[in-house]
Amino acid sequence: MAEDPGMSVVTCTAPVNIAAIKYWGKRDEELILPINSSLSVTLHQNQLKSTTTVAASRDFKEDRIWLNGKEENINRPRLQTCLREIRRLARKRSSRGDGNSNTLTLHYKVHICSENNFPTAAGLASSAAGYACLVYTLAKLHGLEGELSEIARQGSGSACRSMYGGFVEWIMGVKEDGSDSIAQQIEPETHWPELRVLILVVSAERKQVGSTAGMQTSVKTSPLLKYRAEIVPKRMKEMIKAIKRQDFEIFGQLTMKDSNQFHATCLDTFPPIFYLSDISKRIINLVHRYNSHFEETRVAYTFDAGPNAVIYTLEQHVDEFVEVVKHYFPPEENGEQFLKGLPVNSISVSEQLNRSIQMDPVKAGIRYIINTQVGPGPQLIEDANHHLLGEDGLPKQ
Ligand code: DP6
Repeated sequence: MAEDPGMSVVTCTAPVNIAAIKYWGKRDEELILPINSSLSVTLHQNQLKSTTTVAASRDFKEDRIWLNGKEENINRPRLQTCLREIRRLARKRSSRGDGNSNTLTLHYKVHICSENNFPTAAGLASSAAGYACLVYTLAKLHGLEGELSEIARQGSGSACRSMYGGFVEWIMGVKEDGSDSIAQQIEPETHWPELRVLILVVSAERKQVGSTAGMQTSVKTSPLLKYRAEIVPKRMKEMIKAIKRQDFEIFGQLTMKDSNQFHATCLDTFPPIFYLSDISKRIINLVHRYNSHFEETRVAYTFDAGPNAVIYTLEQHVDEFVEVVKHYFPPEENGEQFLKGLPVNSISVSEQLNRSIQMDPVKAGIRYIINTQVGPGPQLIEDANHHLLGEDGLPKQ
């Protein structure tokens, strides 16, 4: 018989992903099956990540979870689904004698502690990183390897894409049981090293309508969403080709068009959903004026279910574009640090460029910018000092 390890503890991290082709609308609410495939870029965990520690012990009386320092209800249906499906898969694999699944921990209750290194309310796909991290960490605890995106998907649809690094496709699938609705890596994080991602945080307010509820109303009421489902397959093919060829012009244009169509669908939803703020719209204008000045697509925006802009660009344009953003959205003096993440050099912007942009500056319209890049998928953290749970199985301070 296997020896009782006492308490088993595993800590992992998982990334945020930002869709360039959006997921919006489910064909099955229970299994979280989408009405169209989607495609995202995994962001680097040096800047944004979720960290999760799971401990299993024979002494634990019940499953418990702490999120960002606060104990939460473990009975939330999506959480329960992930716990149940991971345990089911571990049992299945261990009964087949596959891999090195750890059967002992399967009988124990677990304590889960998870935190993000970015504000949850900033609308930065925290549920994607969070569920990906939970599923990955539980899998490691039970010694499970292989395809897990199907389980992460049932926590939050977009979470399945955070199970891989680089450029990731979520194939919508056709089967009723959802077994073919999985994420797949198109290219690894090393594929397009010049690609950069700037997150323009305009407001840390909680969003008005959550994505789960928003997309439900869109499915029920938006004719445009039905049209969208027909055109996304072609867009997906073009997007994958553009990524493989590192063609920023096409990648950027498709990204902006898809973001715009997603927000058009929100406006077509009844009652309408507004995720873009005035500042978001000014950023859109700024990007188009900047690109038309150079007669090429140098920067591309995309917006999720909130007002923050995510800008894709190439390394050689970061310094100049950030300078332009600073000029048109002058940061608050004495405010928080404006530039976070990878270093940005201060440069001067040409008079001609400013003449082409011609917009009135809006003070403090943008709170801060995070400069990041494409990154890898979830990681196992070996160093026990990084566990979020102490030896008593409770959150460390
Ligand atoms: C606008 O994955 O958060 O960010 O599956 O209901 O949990 P649920 O929704 P969620 O929706 C993400 C929507 C989006 C677009 C995207 O990431 O593809």
